[in-house]
Amino acid sequence: MRSHKCGELNTQHLGQTVALCGWVHRRRDHGGVIFIDLRDRAGLVQVVFDPDAAESFAIAEHVRSEYVLRIEGIVRDRPEGTHNPNMSTGQIEVLGKHIEVLNEAETPPFPLESDIEVNEETRLRFRYIDLRRTAMQQKMKVRRDVTRNLRQYLDDHEFFEIETPYLTKATPEGARDYIVPSRTHQNSFFALPQSPQLYKQLLMIAGMDRYYQVVRCFRDEDLRADRQPEFTQLDIETSFMNEQEIMAVMEEMIRRLFKDIIDVDLGDKFPVMSYAEAMRRYGSDRPDLRIPLELVDIAEEMKNVDFKVFSGPANDPNGRVVAMKLPEGGDLSRSVIDELTKFVGIYGAKGLAYIKVNDLAAGVDGLQSPIVKFAPAEVWAKVMAKVDAQNGDLIFFGADKAHVVNEAMGALRVKLGLDRNLLTGPWKPLWVVDFPMFAWDDKAQRYTAIHHPFTAPSCSVEELVASPGTALSRAYDLVLNGTEVGGGSIRINRTAMQQTVFDILGIGHEEAREKFGFLLDALKYGAPPHGGIAFGLDRLVMLMTGAGSIRDVIAFPKTQTAACPLFNAPAVVSEEQLKELGIRLRKPAGKEDKQD
Ligand code: AMO
Ligand code: AMP
Repeated sequence: MRSHKCGELNTQHLGQTVALCGWVHRRRDHGGVIFIDLRDRAGLVQVVFDPDAAESFAIAEHVRSEYVLRIEGIVRDRPEGTHNPNMSTGQIEVLGKHIEVLNEAETPPFPLESDIEVNEETRLRFRYIDLRRTAMQQKMKVRRDVTRNLRQYLDDHEFFEIETPYLTKATPEGARDYIVPSRTHQNSFFALPQSPQLYKQLLMIAGMDRYYQVVRCFRDEDLRADRQPEFTQLDIETSFMNEQEIMAVMEEMIRRLFKDIIDVDLGDKFPVMSYAEAMRRYGSDRPDLRIPLELVDIAEEMKNVDFKVFSGPANDPNGRVVAMKLPEGGDLSRSVIDELTKFVGIYGAKGLAYIKVNDLAAGVDGLQSPIVKFAPAEVWAKVMAKVDAQNGDLIFFGADKAHVVNEAMGALRVKLGLDRNLLTGPWKPLWVVDFPMFAWDDKAQRYTAIHHPFTAPSCSVEELVASPGTALSRAYDLVLNGTEVGGGSIRINRTAMQQTVFDILGIGHEEAREKFGFLLDALKYGAPPHGGIAFGLDRLVMLMTGAGSIRDVIAFPKTQTAACPLFNAPAVVSEEQLKELGIRLRKPAGKEDKQD
C-alpha cells in the first residue's frame, strides 16, 4: 500500500513520487491550501494539497484528526523560510496528488500532542490511542531495542533461551500469588509464577549450562511507580560460575546496553558495597549514589544526654541515632521543615529534630534549635565535628528503632537530594553484596528470607544453624540511581543445606516435601554449583527513557489498584464457568462487601 514511511522522508527523496499511509495528526486550512501532518510509527510529514488537484482537495477539506489516509504525492523542498528544524522531515514536504480515506475516526478522547497532560485512567482506557503519541512510540521502540540488545548479548555468550511454564505452583519471592483454578483437578489451583526461579535451577541440574528468558512474572503486592502485578524479567541462570564471574558478565551486558541504546558510559567497574555499609551510610539497601548526603551515627555521643528521644534509642541495641547534614540548608523555612517532618512521619518517624548552624565559632550559641538545650556543649561540638558542619548548614536528626531511622532518614535523604537538585551525576550504578540471609519478623516470631529461600549462605551448615541472624548470603543486587534493577545469588545446590534453610524459616520437613519435594529430590541427582540473576526489564527501560513510572514503558499496564480499565479486567465470570471449576463464591457478584 505504501512506498515509504512518513517519518523517514528527507531531502534524498526530493522529486520522488511516494505513497504514504498514516493518521491525520493535524490539519490546517490556510485559505486555499490545506496542510495535513500525516503520522505513522516513523514520525510525521507535512502533506500539502492545493486546489489544482480538485478531487483530492475536496476530500482533504473534510478529513479530521486521526482519520486514516493513503496519500500519493511528490516530495519537494519546503519554500524558503518554512523549514522546520524540530521535525526530522522538516526540510521537505509532500505535494499531495491523490488521497484515499482508509478509515474515518471519531474525535479522540484526548489530544495526541505529547506535551499535554492527560489523566492516567483515561490514557489506559484508550491505551490504543495513547500509544499513538510520539513519546509512547519512542518508549516502545527503546523497549524493543533493549530486549533485542540483551538477547543478542546473551546469544553471543552461549545462553539458551528456554521457556518455562506459567501454570505452576507457588514460587516464593515474598509476594502473594495469583492463583488459577483447575477444571480437571477440582479443589486444586495453579499459581502463576512470581519468577521462574525453581525452573531455572532445574534447568541447571538438567545440564543446560546457561539459560535466559524474557519472562512475565506475577506478584500480587502493593503497587508503586516501579511495581506492577505482572512485569517482565530478564531471567538468567548459569552453572559453574561464582558470584564474581556472574557479576562481571552481567555488568558488561548492562554497560554495553547503555552505551548501545542511549550512548551512556556507566564507567569501567561498577562499585561494590556491602549491605551493612549501604544501610549505615544511606539507610537503604538500594542507595542512590547521585545524592551526596549521608547518615552519620551519633549514638555514642547521645548515650548520656538528658533528651530521652535520643538517649533511649542510643542505649537500645535495636535503636539508631543519626545526624544528616544538608550543606547550605540553613535557608530552609520553618514551614518547609514542618513539611519534611510530616514526610518522615509516613515512615514512622515520631519527629525530625534539626539544628541550624549559624556560627560555629560561637559554640552552642551559634547553633539554632529547640534541642540544643538538651545536651552539653561538648556533645554538640563532637557532633558538629563528626558531620563536618559548616556555617549555613542544617543538620537533621533521627532517633528510633534502627529500621524506622533507616527508612525515614533514607527517604528524607532522597527527597532532599531530588528537591534541592543535589545530584552529582546522571548515572550511578552500584552492586550491593553481603546481604544477611534472614530477617527476624517480630510479629510472626520467625525468620524470613531476605532474598528467596534458595539463596546460598556464605557459611557452612553448622555455622548457619549456630547463628542464623548474623549469617550472610551470596546474593547481589544491581542498583542504578536508587532503583533496584536486578537481583540474584549463588544457589544452594545440596539437599542438606536446603533442608537447613527451610528449617530456619520454620518450613517443617513435611511442608518442605509437599511444597518443594521435587527440588529436594533434584538436588540429590548431581546438582552443579549454579547461580544467576534477574533484571527488571520494565525498570531498566523506565530509567533509560526517563519515564516517571514503569506503567509508561509497558504497552498495557495495570492501574495502581491492579486493574485494566481497557478490558475492564478482572471481571465477573458466569455461573456455568464457576460450576465447571467446582467453585462457589463466598460473596456472589453484586453482593461483594468492599470492606474485606
Ligand atoms: P527479585 O524478586 O529481586 O528476584 O526480582 C528481580 C528484579 O525484578 C524486578 N521486579 C519488579 N519489577 C516490576 N514490578 C514488580 N512487582 C517487581 N518485582 C521485582 C526488580 C528486581 O530487581 N528469582 C529472583 C532472581 C534471582 O535470584 O535470580 C527474583 O525474582 O528490578
Ligand atoms: P519534643 O521534645 O518531642 O518536642 O521534640 C523536640 C524535637 O525533636 C522536635 O523537633 C521533634 O521533631 C524532634 N523529635 C522528636 N522525636 C524524634 C525522633 N524520634 N527522631 C528525631 N527527632 C525527633
